[in-house]
Amino acid sequence: VLRVQTVASESKDAVIPAIFVRPETEQPGITTVQGVNLEVPIIDFSNPDEGKVVQQIVEASREWGMFQIVNHEIPNEVISKLQNVGKVFFELPQEEKEVYAKVDGSDSIQGYGTKLSKEVNGKKGWVDHLFHIIWPPSSINYRFWPKNPPSYREVNEEYRKYLRVVIEKLFKSMSIGLGLEEMELKEAASGDDMILLLKINYYPPCPCPDLVLGVPPHTDMSYLTILVPNEVQGLQAFRDGRWYDVKYIPNALIIHIGDQMEILSNGKYKAVYHRTTVNKEEARMSWPVFIEPQAEHEVGPHPKLVDQHNPPKYKTKKYKDYAYCKLNKIPQ
Ligand code: SIN
Ligand code: FE2
Repeated sequence: VLRVQTVASESKDAVIPAIFVRPETEQPGITTVQGVNLEVPIIDFSNPDEGKVVQQIVEASREWGMFQIVNHEIPNEVISKLQNVGKVFFELPQEEKEVYAKVDGSDSIQGYGTKLSKEVNGKKGWVDHLFHIIWPPSSINYRFWPKNPPSYREVNEEYRKYLRVVIEKLFKSMSIGLGLEEMELKEAASGDDMILLLKINYYPPCPCPDLVLGVPPHTDMSYLTILVPNEVQGLQAFRDGRWYDVKYIPNALIIHIGDQMEILSNGKYKAVYHRTTVNKEEARMSWPVFIEPQAEHEVGPHPKLVDQHNPPKYKTKKYKDYAYCKLNKIPQ
């Protein structure tokens, strides 16, 4: 498999393969609102007024599907170590990374790879990635966790420990926001069996960033996604019919509402439509963790949110069936 990192290292003369060049209707140089950074809601987790925090989470989940959390109690050092070990991995020689390559023909998405799904127009995103599950322990396959750098595992396990506290608080708040008991949303989402899937995106520098996309427009399939980027701008959100760069707050966690949360909430919370761009000089990286159901778990609108006045807006189906339809562009 030809990696984008290899393509990038070979396209120094501002010519890139046509397969990466987007039609004009998608080119970020043409379709991005210039000169504005979108300020998505910022939520301070250390606010002693907990009711206020719940209200802010609920409002942002309904109106934006995206927000940033500051003072989340994950030490900055834990995040910078996570970023550092991922960067070291992607800077290893190509053949060392290929040891972790996705297994051909396997239906698991874990491993080092170059693209998740076929795009309709046959174009490719300017990005390579590494996927591996970090929770629950019974679902982890350490074969896909880099051995180099040696601290990779410890650093990722430490990040996970802090992240689970944030996830707990988000689910509780979003449960209350739906008029449910604090634990009911998480229980319906299969509680501690939920999968935390880490993805590292590596977007190499690109000689023509205005013509390509990193990840094309999509909503995440997860319940929630919790993301940290490196310092290179590139995450864009679709708002009022236009694409905007999202304004980064240093050390914040970026939260996306995903499809499964929209479904479980029967449409009260909205999955955010987003895409990414790349940079001419610098590698952009990001570390989303997707919080997802197990493959066999059935997801549909929460039974307590549905009655004769509030019919279900979504079908109930196994997550693996949802994912299959989404990846193959079959209507749900
Ligand atoms: C993604 O949406 O999959 C990537 C987001 C990012 O790189 O910021
Ligand atoms: Fe995404």
